[in-house]
Amino acid sequence: MHASEIVACVDGPLLVRGDFELVSSTGEPVERTRRTVALCRCGASAIKPFCDGTHKLVGFRTEPPREPDAVEGSQ
Ligand code: FES
Repeated sequence: MHASEIVACVDGPLLVRGDFELVSSTGEPVERTRRTVALCRCGASAIKPFCDGTHKLVGFRTEPPREPDAVEGSQ
């Protein structure tokens, strides 16, 4: 069992759960009230760093996972 876990949601936020500290880019603590938080990665949330669901409105899409043996330029 990990102390914390990050799940990259398809076409959505990063779900972070467990025991962790969230800090701003300047190192200031960011208050959270839940054990699991959704962090915006589309850039459109009005409540950054948290996701507010706007990714659905803006049509945010994540890249499909790369094939592990795919090498660009090889044949
Ligand atoms: S990922 Fe949800 S608003 Fe940005």
